Amino acid sequence: MTLRTASVTALFAAGALFGVTACSSSVPLAPQASLFARLGGMENLTAVADEVVSKVSIDPRSRRTFEGVNLARLKASVASHLCSVSGGPCKYEGDSMALAHRGMALTVEELQVMGEHVDRALIGRGVARKEREELEAILDKLSGEVLNK
Ligand code: HEM
Repeated sequence: MTLRTASVTALFAAGALFGVTACSSSVPLAPQASLFARLGGMENLTAVADEVVSKVSIDPRSRRTFEGVNLARLKASVASHLCSVSGGPCKYEGDSMALAHRGMALTVEELQVMGEHVDRALIGRGVARKEREELEAILDKLSGEVLNK
């Protein structure tokens, strides 16, 4: 997790350097498309949320907290959250990550299982490694709140 965060930080640092080089030339830079757009927009994020919630809620390593949860509602809420954290136009209206997961005593292992399913679902939708890593870095940053630490 630390390694991945470090490599993403390195990527941003490299991006900043390239930015400086590009700015010193006379060619204007095309604005970078939002991560939301590069992930394939709402169509992909809805499909990813559907798949991840379906898989995590039946995987024996992670299903324990899903008993009695309205999965259709959860899928819609997770899609809106993914849209919002990736710079999309959605206004996420659910609970904060700390509140949503309060009392679940989630573990790092359960987070990793979810990470596996997120990665698999993104690959299945044709999302490239760079965009997968960017989204996963955003989710990594939320893990402290999700674990209520
Ligand atoms: C960075 C990691 C995670 C993110 C960003 C995330 C995101 C979310 C979101 C957006 C909601 C909906 C909250 C609402 O509608 O108010 C939610 C609820 C939920 N999450 Fe997570 N989650 C993460 C990790 C996990 C993990 C690892 C598990 C279990 C293995 C989990 C289990 C649940 C459950 C069971 C709910 C439903 C709570 C309820 O409706 O009572 N989450 N999560």
